[in-house]
Amino acid sequence: MAHVVVLPGDGIGPEVIAASRGVLEAVCAAGGLDLSLEERPIGGTAIDTLGSPLPAETLAACRAADAVLLGAVGGPAWDHLRGEHRCEAGLLGLRSGMGVFANLRPVRVHPHLADRTSLRPEVTRGTDLVIVRELTGGAYFGEPRGRSGTGAAERAVDSIVYSATEIERVARVAFKLASARRGGLVSVDKANVLITSQLWRDVLIGLSPEYPDVTLTHELVDAFSMRLMREPATVDVVVTENLMGDILSDEAAVLAGSLGLLPSASLGASDAGVYEPIHGSAPSITGRGIADPYGAILSAAMLLRHSLHREDLAAAIEAAVDVCIAEDVLPADLGGTIGSAAIAEAVTREAVRRVGTPMGSPQ
Ligand code: NAD
Ligand code: IPM
Ligand code: MN
Repeated sequence: MAHVVVLPGDGIGPEVIAASRGVLEAVCAAGGLDLSLEERPIGGTAIDTLGSPLPAETLAACRAADAVLLGAVGGPAWDHLRGEHRCEAGLLGLRSGMGVFANLRPVRVHPHLADRTSLRPEVTRGTDLVIVRELTGGAYFGEPRGRSGTGAAERAVDSIVYSATEIERVARVAFKLASARRGGLVSVDKANVLITSQLWRDVLIGLSPEYPDVTLTHELVDAFSMRLMREPATVDVVVTENLMGDILSDEAAVLAGSLGLLPSASLGASDAGVYEPIHGSAPSITGRGIADPYGAILSAAMLLRHSLHREDLAAAIEAAVDVCIAEDVLPADLGGTIGSAAIAEAVTREAVRRVGTPMGSPQ
C-alpha cells in the first residue's frame, strides 16, 4: 500500500490537484498499485482553519507518507502577513522538514506547442532540459535574517549560506541525472561576485572526476539566463542554488509555452518526495475551472517514478499528456478552451489505456 499525502493549498491549488489526483487514482487502480490518499491543509487554508501555514499535524502526516502531492500556497488574502506567518513559510517549512534538498524541474517543448510560445519555434524546438534547483539552503534559509531598528535606521538582512555538504549532495543528484541523460551539466552561479558561488564552483569541480561521462561547465547566472532563451536546445542538466533556480525555472517555462505546464519533484535522502507544479496559486484565475492542470498531472507522474518506483505508470501519464496536447486538449493559457476537469478526464482515459503496455506506448 502506497500512502500519499495530498496538500491542495490555496487559489488554483485545489483545482489542479483535483485533476492530478483523479489521474493518479485511476492510473494506480489500472496498474494494480494500492494507493491511500490523505488530504491535509497547508498555506492560507491552514492559517484560516488551524492558525498556522504548516500545522504540526500536516508536517507529521507528510513525514510519515511515501510521497506528498502539493498544489500551491499563497494569495492576496494573506499577503499582509510577514515572516514565518506567511503562507510561503509553510511551504519552506515543509521542504526543510521533509529534507528534500534537490528540486528537479524538467522542461520540454512539445512539438505541437512550439509555435505557440513567445519565442520563435526554431529557437525552442528540441528543448529537453532539467533544472536541478537546490531547495533547502541559500537565501531562503540562511541566518542571520530579519529586520531591526525603526524609521530611516531600519535594516533588513537575508543571508546566502551554503556548506560544502549541502552543495555536494545536490551536485551528486545532478551529476547522476546528467550521466543518465545526454551527459551535459552546466552549473550556474555568480562566482564573479558571491563567495557562496565560489565555494559552489569549487565543490562541483572537485566532484567532476568521479563522473567522467559528464561534461561539467560553469556559467554565470546573468549570461546563462540569456543563453537559456537563445539556445535552449543545447542545455541538458542545469544545477544551481535555490534563488537562482527559482527564477530560472519560471523563465524556462516560457520555452514550454506556459508556467502551468511545468512539474517538479523535490527529493532528499530517502524515497519520500514532494511533488508540485512550479506555478503558484494564480489568484486572478482562481475558481473559474480554467487553470492549466498539466503541471500538476505531470507532477503525479514524477511521484510515481521517483517515490513509488512505477516508471510504467509515470510513462503512461506522460505519454497521455503528450497525446492530449497533440490533440489540442488545451487550457486557456495555451490558447485553448478546455477546462481543467475535462483535461483530467482526457488524460485519464488515454493513460489508463496505456497501462500495461511497454513503457506506456500505444496499444
Ligand atoms: P503564479 O505562478 O501564481 O502566477 C504567475 C502567472 O502565471 C499568472 O499570470 C497566473 O495566472 C499564471 N499561471 C500560473 N499557474 C497557472 C496555471 N496552472 N494555469 C494557468 N495560468 C497559470 O505566481 P504569482 O502570481 O507571482 O504568485 C501568486 C501567489 O502564489 C503568491 O502568493 C506566491 O507566493 C504564490 N506562489 C506559490 C508557489 C507554490 O506554492 N509552489 C509557487 C509560486 C508562487
Ligand atoms: C516555487 C515558489 C516558492 C519558492 C515560493 C512560493 C516560496 O516560487 O516553488 O517556485 O520560491 O520556492
Ligand atoms: Mn517559483
